[in-house]
Amino acid sequence: MSSAAERYAAVHDAALTAGRFADHRRRADHWADLAELFRLDPHRPWDQNLRALAGYLEPADVLLDVGGGAGRVSLPLASQVREVVLVEPSESMRGQFIQSRDEAGITNARVSPDWWMDSVETGDVAITSDVVYFVRDIVPFVTKLHNSASRRVIICIWRPTPGDMDNELRRILYDERPSPWPGLPELAAVLWEMGLLPDVRVIPAAPWWIPEADGGLSEAQAVDLAMGRLERDDESTRRHIETDFDRLFERGPAGLSPRWLSGAREVMITWETNGRRLD
Ligand SMILES: C[S@@+](CC[C@H](N)C(=O)[O-])C[C@H]1O[C@@H](n2cnc3c(N)ncnc32)[C@H](O)[C@@H]1O
Repeated sequence: MSSAAERYAAVHDAALTAGRFADHRRRADHWADLAELFRLDPHRPWDQNLRALAGYLEPADVLLDVGGGAGRVSLPLASQVREVVLVEPSESMRGQFIQSRDEAGITNARVSPDWWMDSVETGDVAITSDVVYFVRDIVPFVTKLHNSASRRVIICIWRPTPGDMDNELRRILYDERPSPWPGLPELAAVLWEMGLLPDVRVIPAAPWWIPEADGGLSEAQAVDLAMGRLERDDESTRRHIETDFDRLFERGPAGLSPRWLSGAREVMITWETNGRRLD
């Protein structure tokens, strides 16, 4: 019987072979096209995810944000801690982080350009948000998170993963079943196998990058959403969507909501390190 870590790697490899994400073992800037999308205003009102994260922080903390991107998660929290340290190998993401930080007037945040396994950075609380799907060798990555955080590790992922948000739409319309990204079931099994017993918190908010998931759509907006998510612009797809409309969309007093996105949730997996090192 294979280990949970081997199963995690197998799911990663199947998704990679299917071309569902870039191979992050290759040292390249894989996020050049998406970096701007990940830059959100650090002074925006806090959502439920930021409120939950802030509850774990103390004013004297160094907050380590591993694969922190443009600082979407950690810059809004800079006011809650002594320092934010972002570890981010993508030059494009780092550029967006620096612009965002400087325009927001945040002076206690810096960025280090390493891949996590090469980093020497440490902190009190280590966060990694939407990163672990791309990490094939998950055990050393999590072990290093644990050993680099004096108090707590927080891993945020989506269920379904961002790459799998539209699988149900594809199944209904085309009977497609894409190879999934490694997600919550695979990661939870690995953590269990490592002897970790994390808290798993489900944050009741829709995916931030798909505002239409909250509903309130007209029929035309609903069709456009499905076409956009499929990256299709042809009449045959439009007809498919119209034929399956009631399986895809729920009608409510405020308008239509996409059924296939209604259960998407951010999941926060967190544990205290208690100064105990993992081997
Ligand atoms: C989907 S983005 C998420 C960015 C940010 N955490 C957020 O939630 O907005 C994934 C990020 O993980 C970074 N990443 C992937 N593998 C990494 C690794 N091994 N070490 C450090 N960063 C990594 C990428 O460069 C990219 O910026």
